Order: sequence, then C-alpha cells, then structure tokens
Amino acid sequence: MEIHSPLEQIQFEIPSSIELYIKRDDLIHPFISGNKWRKLKYLIQTAQLQNKKTLVTFGGAYSNHLLATACAAALKGFKSVGFVRGEELDASNHTLFLCEQFGMKMIFVDRISYLNKAELFEKYFSNNKDAFFIDEGGRSDEAILGCSELIDELPQTFDHIVLAAGTGSTFCGILNGCAKHHLNTKVHAVVVHKGIQEIVDYTISKSTYAHYSIQDNYYFGAYAKTSSDLISFMKKFQQATGILLDPVYTAKALFAVYDLIQQAIIQPREKVLFIHTGGLIGNLGMKDKLQ
Ligand SMILES: Cc1ncc(COP(=O)(O)O)c(C=O)c1O
Repeated sequence: MEIHSPLEQIQFEIPSSIELYIKRDDLIHPFISGNKWRKLKYLIQTAQLQNKKTLVTFGGAYSNHLLATACAAALKGFKSVGFVRGEELDASNHTLFLCEQFGMKMIFVDRISYLNKAELFEKYFSNNKDAFFIDEGGRSDEAILGCSELIDELPQTFDHIVLAAGTGSTFCGILNGCAKHHLNTKVHAVVVHKGIQEIVDYTISKSTYAHYSIQDNYYFGAYAKTSSDLISFMKKFQQATGILLDPVYTAKALFAVYDLIQQAIIQPREKVLFIHTGGLIGNLGMKDKLQ
C-alpha cells in the first residue's frame, strides 16, 4: 500500500516566529489511518512469511487498532479475529460494525480475562497453526520499525516533534528514526492515559535516542476523558483548518503543542512537527462528548 502523508504548515494561533507543520498520517487510508499502516506493515509481512492465514488481535470496543487490523487483513487476504474487552458491550457501535463489514470475527471477553492476552490466544488458538498473534495496539518491534520510516519521509529537519503515545510504539519508532538520521530533534510523547511508567520503561528498552520528553500533563484525568477546554480547542482548530482531530489522542497531543509554546519549551524561531496519528472513526462513538 502506498503511503500518502503530506506535510502541511498550520497558521492557526501560532506566533509568527514559530513554524508548525503537521504530518497528515490521517490521510494514509480511511480505516488503516494514522500510525496504523506503519504499525501493521511489518507484522503482516511476518505473518505472510510464516504462512499464517488469520490475524488475531485485541482491543476495546472503540479501538482504532481493531478496525485497522480488520481492514488490513481483508486487504491482504487474511481472515481476522478480534478479542474485544468487555462481554456486555454493544456490538453494533460504529467501530465494531465496520470491523464486521471487513469480515472480522469478534470474541467478547470479560475485563479480567482480557488482561492476559497470551493466555486468551493459547486458549482459543493453540490448535490453529494458521493464527498469528498481534498484541493490543499492534505493540511490537515490527510496529516500531514501521513507524521509524516516517522520519525517512521528511524533507526537512525540525527542532521538535510532538505526538500522542498510547502503547509508546509509535514514539519509539520516531526516536529510532531520529537516531538513524543522526538528528538532534527533541521528540515529545504526549501520554494519553495514566500508565506513564509503562511508557517510560518501554521507551528505555526499545530506543537509545535520548533527546526526548514524556509529557504527562495532558491526559485530562484518564484515557478517553475530555474537558470543555479540550473540546473547545479541538473545535476551534478544526473549524479554522479543515483538519479533524480525535479527542482521545490527537486533540490532547496538539493541545500540548500550544501549551509547550506557552511554556517556552518550544521557542521563537523553532520548527515543530506534529504527527497526526489518525483515529477519526472513533469520533462517531463520542458524539455526546463532542456536541
Ligand atoms: C489515533 C491514535 N493515535 C495515537 C495512538 C498511540 O499509538 P501508540 O500505541 O503507538 O503509542 C493510537 C493507538 O494506537 C491511536 O489510535
């Protein structure tokens, strides 16, 4: 699949001395959007090399990763199975509806069983040599490698790169890409949930690039929680630029960019790259919060 991810300059409420660019990974594909193709690309190659036929993965009921895997599996000739967290969930939400349209079979599991993904895979697929395990969020060395390639596409260098971090795989990929190109860019991971220590540990184990910060002030209380400030920022940005954000990942990370400018962590005459990691279909399940 060809990558279409242009770089666009944003003028919205940016001091004239700072240049803000956005890497439009949200335009890569409608359903394998943002970081998702980058994360799945080498996992799918590995599955093909191992002659696997079914991609098996994990996610919540609004998981962008589940949808991307369902679509990518269909595109590449695989079957797909998704373990969905929470037995009681409404199987007809937009995300799961689309997963089903792409042929994904869903297995709903309670929240305790969901915690042990290796055990679930073993329980359901130990006799199925065609099944290929993909961790929640695609977290893997393959995903890190795929995400590192974003840096190869950049036509210029930046003083700062800012992006959302969930599992931290995309962040580690960006760090490794910066290391590969011997850059001096400061990379800021905006953590979107409380599990900051997990991301810190993961980063240390997967990258040697040291020029980064982990921003833990922008998760707005919990994963997928929002505030009226965040929603109002998101709407103003969308209406001024024509670029949609999602309230779970990209709005929080972009909010951080503006705050880092306020705090003078990003300074006059610096160039900033914000990575749009996609996730827009999830907005359809958050109409109440967004209206
Ligand atoms: C839209 C979006 N942005 C960012 C992320 C975070 O990516 P990672 O899990 O690689 O940190 C995710 C989750 O995978 C996501 O769905």
